[in-house]
Amino acid sequence: MNINLVRNTPTIGATLTLDLAGALRAGSATKRDAIEQVYTALIEHLVVFIEDLVLTPAEQIDFALQFGALDVPHPVYQTLEGCPEIVALENDGDRPPDTNDWHTDLTFRPNPPFMSILYAKQVPKTGGDTLWANLYAIYDALPDHMKTLLQGKSAIHDIGTFRNDFLGPEMDVKAVNQALLDTGSAVHPIIQIHPVTGRTFVYVNPSFTQHIVGLKKSESDRLLRYLYDHANQPEFQVRYHWRPNALALWDNRVTQHYAVADYLPEYRKMHRVTVINDRRSP
Ligand code: SIN
Repeated sequence: MNINLVRNTPTIGATLTLDLAGALRAGSATKRDAIEQVYTALIEHLVVFIEDLVLTPAEQIDFALQFGALDVPHPVYQTLEGCPEIVALENDGDRPPDTNDWHTDLTFRPNPPFMSILYAKQVPKTGGDTLWANLYAIYDALPDHMKTLLQGKSAIHDIGTFRNDFLGPEMDVKAVNQALLDTGSAVHPIIQIHPVTGRTFVYVNPSFTQHIVGLKKSESDRLLRYLYDHANQPEFQVRYHWRPNALALWDNRVTQHYAVADYLPEYRKMHRVTVINDRRSP
């Protein structure tokens, strides 16, 4: 299958032009070929966009299943009626989003998901963009003494910012405590190697990373603040302006993202599917 690829930035992101819906419906060889090419582009460019794509929820699920098993259900967000695999992210003035903070999805789990696939159902007239950052580039640009300092260090992640969703206006601290029990914490190395590319990246994010193991709180906070400031440079990012029927898929192992909440009280609706494991990875 012929796929046209245009890079969005030199560092991260590629827009693919292909008849994905046709390939999914065609089945067998055409479908396999399209999926392999999309996967190759994903591994190289970290986030991939496909525009003007009309996909039913069942087709989005089928597409996602070509990459690995799906995460069902999401620990916090509502799912689409009859489709527990699809999270419906619906936001407006009464339902402001909580994704306008840099994060890598679900890093409070011991095995955070490999990939997320987001499909734009309805987008605001202006705004509502999403940014992704390349965690390899963030590592590569660290000064050598910082790479040395971070080597061998780990950090604790928990539900972090999701505390707000459980607390709610009723200040239900019991629900927060229960959520912390249910979801637990995870410890992840700060410097990691990507299982497919063998490249090194930095793995902390302001939404879920709580503490660097073995440091005093003040030292940990200072070092995390340094890493977040370093990471937050436009040179490491792509900013995507959504159109209805656009699809984005990202390698969650080596990216962070930020959904800009500048469109309220307008309405924005996205369908997200999360893939737990990379079936092509060793
Ligand atoms: C997310 O954080 O997964 C949502 C991103 C978005 O709505 O653009």
